[in-house]
Amino acid sequence: MTKTILGLSGSLRRPSFNAGLLRAAADLAPEGMRIQIGSIREVPLYDGDLEAESGLPQPVRTLQAQLAAADGLLMVTPEYNNGVPGVFKNAIDWMSRGDGLAMFVGKPVAVIGASPGGFGTILAQSHWLPVLRTLKAALWTEGRLMVSRVESLFDDQGNLTDDKTRAQLRKFLEGFAATL
Ligand code: FNR
Repeated sequence: MTKTILGLSGSLRRPSFNAGLLRAAADLAPEGMRIQIGSIREVPLYDGDLEAESGLPQPVRTLQAQLAAADGLLMVTPEYNNGVPGVFKNAIDWMSRGDGLAMFVGKPVAVIGASPGGFGTILAQSHWLPVLRTLKAALWTEGRLMVSRVESLFDDQGNLTDDKTRAQLRKFLEGFAATL
C-alpha cells in the first residue's frame, strides 16, 4: 500500500533551495511512497492570545489534518545562524497545539536540508533533535542528507539539477520508505 509522507520546506523564498529539494524528493519518491507537499506560508506568528480567543488558525488546522493523515513527515530545513529558521519552528510549534501533539507521537520523521555553505545544514538538522524528541516523534536517523554548496546543484528557479545529489536523495528516500 502506498504510504503518504507530508513534506514541509522551512523556507518561504520563491526560488528556495530547500523547497526545490522537497520538490525533487516528491519527484524521486520510490514506489510505495507519495510525498504530499504542504505549506507553512500562511501560518501566522504564534500568539497565545490569538489561540485563546480564536483557536487554531485555519492554515494550522490544514497542516495538522495533513500530518494526521500522513504516514510520516519529511522536513526540509534551511539553516539560519547555525539554528533552525524561525518561520519553520513557528509552524511546528503551532502544529503541536490543540490536538496536534498526538499527531507527532510515534510519527516517522526524516530531516534533510540544503545550504550554500560547506556544512549543508548540519547544525540546523541537529537543532531539530530536541524539538522532535519533545514531540515524541520517531526520528529516522539511519540516513543523512546535507546538501552543501547549492549554487552549482540547483538552477535559477531552485530546481535540483545535479544528478549525484538526486541519486543521494533517492537513496535517502528509499531508506526512509523501507522503515514505514
Ligand atoms: C543564512 N544562511 C546560512 N547558511 C548556513 O549554512 N548556515 C547559517 O548559519 C546561515 N545563516 C543564515 C542566517 C540568515 C538570517 C539567513 C537569511 C541565511 C544562508 C542560507 O542557508 C541561505 O540563504 C539559503 O539559501 C536559505 O535556504 P533557502 O531559502 O534557499 O531554502
